[in-house]
Amino acid sequence: MKPIHAVTGVAGYTGKYITRRLLGAGIEVIGLTNHPARPSEFGERVRFYPFDFDQPERLAAHLEGVEVLYNTYWVRFDHGRSTYESAVRNTRVLIDAARRAGVRRLVHVSITNPSLDSPLPYFQGKALLEEAIRASGLSYAILRPTVLFGLEDILINNIAYLLRKFPLFAIPGDGTYRLQPVFVDDLAALAVRAAGESENYTLDAVGPDVFSYNALVRLIGDRIGRRPPILHFEPELALSLAGLLGRFYGDVLITREEYLGLSADLLVSSQPPTCPTPLGEWLAQNAPALGQRYASEIARHYQP
Ligand SMILES: NC(=O)c1ccc[n+]([C@@H]2O[C@H](COP(=O)([O-])OP(=O)(O)OC[C@H]3O[C@@H](n4cnc5c(N)ncnc54)[C@H](OP(=O)(O)O)[C@@H]3O)[C@@H](O)[C@H]2O)c1
Repeated sequence: MKPIHAVTGVAGYTGKYITRRLLGAGIEVIGLTNHPARPSEFGERVRFYPFDFDQPERLAAHLEGVEVLYNTYWVRFDHGRSTYESAVRNTRVLIDAARRAGVRRLVHVSITNPSLDSPLPYFQGKALLEEAIRASGLSYAILRPTVLFGLEDILINNIAYLLRKFPLFAIPGDGTYRLQPVFVDDLAALAVRAAGESENYTLDAVGPDVFSYNALVRLIGDRIGRRPPILHFEPELALSLAGLLGRFYGDVLITREEYLGLSADLLVSSQPPTCPTPLGEWLAQNAPALGQRYASEIARHYQP
């Protein structure tokens, strides 16, 4: 019988790349998602189940017979009923359901530099969940990516979109804060490898290059052939402008928290790189497709 693995957000961004690799390796995949009826590239090859966070028994039943659970579930910002608090609560339910269902291994996607003391709920919530996983008794690998890049990306895509669309590009603050982007399929490869191991560990999932935000915007501009003047705005003013633009697109472009995380260099690792794909090379191949359309977080997660 084929082994069964479960992926949360199976047809989402990271989850899709993990699922492609699992199906390619002949593993049976079940998916947990908020949108079990939404068509996906996987068609009949994946069985989809709702998260059922409010019915832990049902959630545990979905996980019966599952060997490995890959967890990508999280929320990027508080919006409506989806909040960091609910994401932490729901993930605790998921961890407990996995334990009760006898899942052999949990591969959990976190973030670089989480901290229980962080004033930023994203980083604090991720730290609380890492703590819950370590205390769960499950065999685990925790992967901590920085900002991801890939064709379905939001941040890098929307930088390209704004560069294509507007005569100037506004950066909050001096833009010297740094990021260490990681290719989404490299993260998926680490996740699938981690599933086959038995040791408990926590690992930063980071690419080979560190960029200042200024350099990142210039690199994307060079690759897509758009070099509008880059202006540095006082952060609050830039965030207000981003807020207006976000409202125009019915989305949230960047939150104050995300800016604070970025400007505190939280999207950089102090460990050696673990993922091979350089952003520059990926951009050279994918620039024509990048930023052709605005990528909306709200459309992706809140529209039926
Ligand atoms: N994207 C990045 O640049 C980045 C950077 C660092 C860390 N990470 C971490 O990597 C993991 C995967 O990120 P991703 O970008 O690949 O996520 P994603 O595919 O967009 O979403 C992952 C899962 O979370 C659910 N979800 C997302 N937003 C939600 C909301 N507002 N309300 C309810 N459910 C929501 C999705 O629901 P559906 O099943 O309905 O799609 C999916 O199950 C996350 O844990 C994230 O913290 C991502």
